[in-house]
Amino acid sequence: MQIKASVLEEQKSQMRFQLLDLIEPRAKEVRIKMVGSGVCHTDIAHAKNEFNMKLNTPIVLGHEGAGIVESIGPGVTKVAEGDHVIISNPYCGVCDECMRGEPWYCEPGTDGSLHLSGLDYYGTTPFSRRGKPVHTLFQQSSFAEMIVVHENTVTKIDDDIDLKYAGPLSCGLRTGAGYVYNLLKPRPADWVCVTGVGPVGLGAMWMARAMGAKTIVLDINQSRLDMAKETGADVIINSDGMSEGEMYAAIRAAADGKGTHFLVETTGVESVIKASMRQMRGGGQCAECAVVGSISFDSYTNDCNDAHTITFGRMGNVANEIIIPVMLDLYRRGMFPFDKLITFYPFEHLQQAMDDSETGRVIKPVVLFD
Ligand SMILES: NC(=O)c1ccc[n+]([C@@H]2O[C@H](COP(=O)([O-])OP(=O)(O)OC[C@H]3O[C@@H](n4cnc5c(N)ncnc54)[C@H](O)[C@@H]3O)[C@@H](O)[C@H]2O)c1
Ligand SMILES: [Zn+2]
Ligand SMILES: [Zn+2]
Repeated sequence: MQIKASVLEEQKSQMRFQLLDLIEPRAKEVRIKMVGSGVCHTDIAHAKNEFNMKLNTPIVLGHEGAGIVESIGPGVTKVAEGDHVIISNPYCGVCDECMRGEPWYCEPGTDGSLHLSGLDYYGTTPFSRRGKPVHTLFQQSSFAEMIVVHENTVTKIDDDIDLKYAGPLSCGLRTGAGYVYNLLKPRPADWVCVTGVGPVGLGAMWMARAMGAKTIVLDINQSRLDMAKETGADVIINSDGMSEGEMYAAIRAAADGKGTHFLVETTGVESVIKASMRQMRGGGQCAECAVVGSISFDSYTNDCNDAHTITFGRMGNVANEIIIPVMLDLYRRGMFPFDKLITFYPFEHLQQAMDDSETGRVIKPVVLFD
């Protein structure tokens, strides 16, 4: 079958639309007709090689897809033809960590072979061009009108959810929401600080609020802070122009003068990380979501000496099949209004969607395939 996809010939070049050959689904594989795909900062960073991580190219990027199961291969039990699905984090299902019930720590997931080898579950590529392989990202490659993935990566969702909006639930939103739901687990009336309110931060804030916690949100972008306030943040802090000490004092003062119990850090900016870590109460726990370079902490002075813990997790440290239905349940009850973040673009305007995401003009672009 020939399908249209956006192909990155090599990193640091422009993606181009091309026709590719797509395989028939093999054992345990599912072919999905894409409806919408979110554009994530990670796609942009890989395209530009900002992580200094060489990808196997040519490659089809995209990892926030939602669509309809078009056909299934032998032995597929998780979904059937016609099911609505979100495609998310791949895991092998058989390693020690998967067996232990922690697929977010999946061995071939964490060593990069499932995510970053450019190959699929069987060590091949689902796409090819004139007989030559075209690689896949995170075993998804949602910047294509049709994809073939292993059934482990799909989560079935109910038909009442509009698939056009659903893709972004598979990455940024679930990362923030997952850390709060499955790692930090705030109690009612605990304080949770969220630094940076993109999709990751908003997902964290909404989940914290749904769990009964109080939230303080810090960012330098006023329109994003306004969105956070409108959708439930207790306190917003515009830290534009603030020093590290001023950020520390502002967050601490807002949390009854005692600091927050928890922190979800999404900016990756050193001064924000240090101020928001240090303001926490004794025993405070931080989920660091951003890709952070080298940062030094002085454990003797008050950077993090009050038994603070910091977790550099993966995709919210929670299984796709658990967190996606939880977010959708909260959405139906008005507590996870993720549709407010989304701006649609036709698939053909993918580059514009990426540019607008980078400049912060839109929070979450989604390209539509029809
Ligand atoms: N760990 C994981 O598994 C995982 C998964 C998804 C995303 N991520 C990462 O999480 C991070 C957040 O993702 P996102 O999609 O929400 O990004 P985003 O760019 O939409 O949001 C980041 C927010 O931080 C704010 N910010 C930037 N500099 C700031 C500063 N100096 N002070 C205060 N606020 C500042 C921005 O205004 C923005 O609102 C990214 O680094 C992304 O790569 C990690
Ligand atoms: Zn992502
Ligand atoms: Zn595994």
